[in-house]
Amino acid sequence: MMTYSEVEAVTGYVGNFNVTVRKKARYVDPNECTSCAECAEVCPVAVPDEYQQGFSSRKAIYLPFPQAVPSAYVLNMDDCLGNNPIACGKCADVCDKNCIDYDDQDKLVNIEVGVIITATGMDVYDPTEYDEYGYTRHENVITSMEFERLICAGGPTEGHFIRPSDRKTPQTIGFIQCVGSRSRDGRGNPYCSNICCMNTVKDTLLLCDHYPGIEAKVFYMDIRAFGKGFEDLYMRSKEEGVKYIRGIPGDVTEDPETRNLLLTVENTTTGKLENHELEVLVLAQGVIPRRDNDRIRKLLTLSTTSDGFIMESHPKLKPVDAPTKGIYIAGCAESPKDVKDSVTQASAAAARASILLNAGKTKIEAITSQIDADKCNFCGICAQVCPYNAIVSSDRKTKRLPVIIQAACAGCGACAAECPQDAITMRHFRDEQILAQIEAILAVEPHKHLLTFACNWCSYAGGDDAGTARLQYPTASRLIRTMCSGRVDQKFVLHAFKLGAPIVLVSGCHFSDCHYISAVHWTQKRMDKLWNKLDKLGVRPDRLRLEWISAADGQKFAKVMRELDDVIKNVTMDEIEYTMNVLAEEEAKAKEKKTKTRVEVQA
Ligand code: FES
Repeated sequence: MMTYSEVEAVTGYVGNFNVTVRKKARYVDPNECTSCAECAEVCPVAVPDEYQQGFSSRKAIYLPFPQAVPSAYVLNMDDCLGNNPIACGKCADVCDKNCIDYDDQDKLVNIEVGVIITATGMDVYDPTEYDEYGYTRHENVITSMEFERLICAGGPTEGHFIRPSDRKTPQTIGFIQCVGSRSRDGRGNPYCSNICCMNTVKDTLLLCDHYPGIEAKVFYMDIRAFGKGFEDLYMRSKEEGVKYIRGIPGDVTEDPETRNLLLTVENTTTGKLENHELEVLVLAQGVIPRRDNDRIRKLLTLSTTSDGFIMESHPKLKPVDAPTKGIYIAGCAESPKDVKDSVTQASAAAARASILLNAGKTKIEAITSQIDADKCNFCGICAQVCPYNAIVSSDRKTKRLPVIIQAACAGCGACAAECPQDAITMRHFRDEQILAQIEAILAVEPHKHLLTFACNWCSYAGGDDAGTARLQYPTASRLIRTMCSGRVDQKFVLHAFKLGAPIVLVSGCHFSDCHYISAVHWTQKRMDKLWNKLDKLGVRPDRLRLEWISAADGQKFAKVMRELDDVIKNVTMDEIEYTMNVLAEEEAKAKEKKTKTRVEVQA
């Protein structure tokens, strides 16, 4: 276990990761320190204690929190009066064991690991932007995290709950739920933070237990008490006399004399406006992804959902696997969840990881890419587009071919679609195989068919969803499945138009849902280029459609099919014929150019 450390870099692939960890200088030898606290007693610096939410202070040399591992002090050099030259040095003077070393330095440690579990946790929402609640303006408006410290026996008040303005025990307290969660007004986040309802229920029970007779009110939209035993807890809280009022208050004002908080709320159960006077108001702040999640995402070549949490490989079948092989996710890094769910997911991630570690080898699906050495011209594009860093780039000077790390390749096919030399073959999704499917579909009456490229994970599954829901849509569609929309090469689309297709539809997952991290971005870029090209050739660009259809979007799939069936009817035979001729000419020109270049190179 390496605490007070940060991962700096991760290279390699499943079974062969190399992780560089920065062990931060703590200036106190953790093996010698006995946490006697004598150093902190003489330290003259006092700064707000982050762990206690700023309700108390700590010294520049301190124990980060009571359960810190190792149980040793750490010196924060930013707070210290200065070590070079030493301006104070009191802590070192008083330390009998000579644990303090002002010259300590960060150390970089390299570790070889086979698998990685990402359990990087979450942050909490800062409710300051909800100006109407007056957090930071009214001293007695606090967050649920601050409440947690104030009611905790290990907190700054040793568990005696006080209101911040006068340090007296309040008799009335209110909670506003969903602060920064389930919000559609541009502030906060649209998702449910999962834990806040039960956290508030637990808080009210603690209050009732510590202070019988206290008046507690909870203002809510819905109480989501969905876990085992949660409904009982909610009922117990009600039985203890906690009032649950369905309605979210508007402005919170403060009585300047009593410092009590005044708020008005529309009780949506009774339909009446109610005024409440409270001594303390707690904002049940939501959960947000870690603020440095993007750094973690880049380090481990992961992808994130539109909410910013790390995305799993498959929500139902691989809920703890990351899309990158050998990396697993647990806890709030993946989505907001409570302790029990985090522990369950962590156990699952550990079990998944140990399967790989115990086997000592891994099986990969045969859908990986291969380089054709005769065709490669060392351009290096394949390495640039690979979302998994699975391609070691070529070198034109030394004529070194790119190397595809088969264990790291996930088989999205973006490299094959982008390679200008057609030097990459995707096993099981070779160009010849896909072109043959196009030819078979358009062999008879091509003008009646809607050629659709659908990615395996979302759009194809969306089609399945439409089928199982027995949704009606026209029979013109003919699907070609690729693992990812990133595999759809420009030449597939042009080939289909050359054979007389009236419309070509390319469909894939929504941007944040692509199962191959960022492969879908290449689909978009490629289609943008294709639209331009079609426009220049005098072909209506709207004959090429790009749609993002998720696996649960059977409705959308059927709707798109219906819409495109109408568009097919507007594509005239003349238009189709013109397209076929112009593309045949283009192809002939390109072939001629290629032959010329080859002759010149040979010469
Ligand atoms: Fe569906 Fe990439 S997996 S677009």
